[in-house]
Amino acid sequence: MRIDIITCLPQLIESPFNHSILQRAKIKGLVEVILHDLRDYTTYKHRQIDDYAFGGGAGMVLMVEPIAACIRSLQSQRQYDEVIYMTPDGETFNQKIANQLSLKGNLIILCGHYKGIDERARQKFITKEISIGDYVLSGGELAAAVVSDAVIRLIPGVLSDETSALSDSFQDNLLAPPVYTRPAVFEDLTVPEVLLSGHEAKINEWRFEQALHRTQTRRPDLLKNFE
Ligand code: ADE
Repeated sequence: MRIDIITCLPQLIESPFNHSILQRAKIKGLVEVILHDLRDYTTYKHRQIDDYAFGGGAGMVLMVEPIAACIRSLQSQRQYDEVIYMTPDGETFNQKIANQLSLKGNLIILCGHYKGIDERARQKFITKEISIGDYVLSGGELAAAVVSDAVIRLIPGVLSDETSALSDSFQDNLLAPPVYTRPAVFEDLTVPEVLLSGHEAKINEWRFEQALHRTQTRRPDLLKNFE
């Protein structure tokens, strides 16, 4: 998979891709993440990429031309499956969308900033608009990192134990069960005995019951879609 991220603040989004699982995915050649600085695509003086909103009002708007130039340059080099715009008025991101995106080959993710981007850039180029929740961030960079992380870890081979992504919370609309590691006794708290029994069927049954209980008490809304 290849993910091209267009941003006016590339430094803000570099770090998550250079550590841990995402870094390993890059090293293994399973994903390429390329950051593009929107300022490299403007023809305006002083690398200007934003301007005041027509009609007035506070806040700057990212101009359509640098966005068009960057997306068109990328699209002239390869086919893209989706051109995604990170925005609070997009479709709310969830595991199902992450699963769908993990099957794609090439993605562009455009990060907004300031008051957003000129509407004509959305009309002309954007195929999917994603929000990571009902709150407003200063820009789309952190949201793009969230989406990329959720997607990349699903690519086969990225996680060393392939079953571990399948047993994540939300994969089957259940929250994950509690987990424990050494020591078996910590102060007044012990690990549930069944987990020390070595009896795989019983452990799986316990985990399922715990997952169901957790979902019923914390997120009963998920059970409507329980598979
Ligand atoms: N940009 C600003 N806020 C955002 C949000 N909640 N989701 C995605 N992109 C955003």
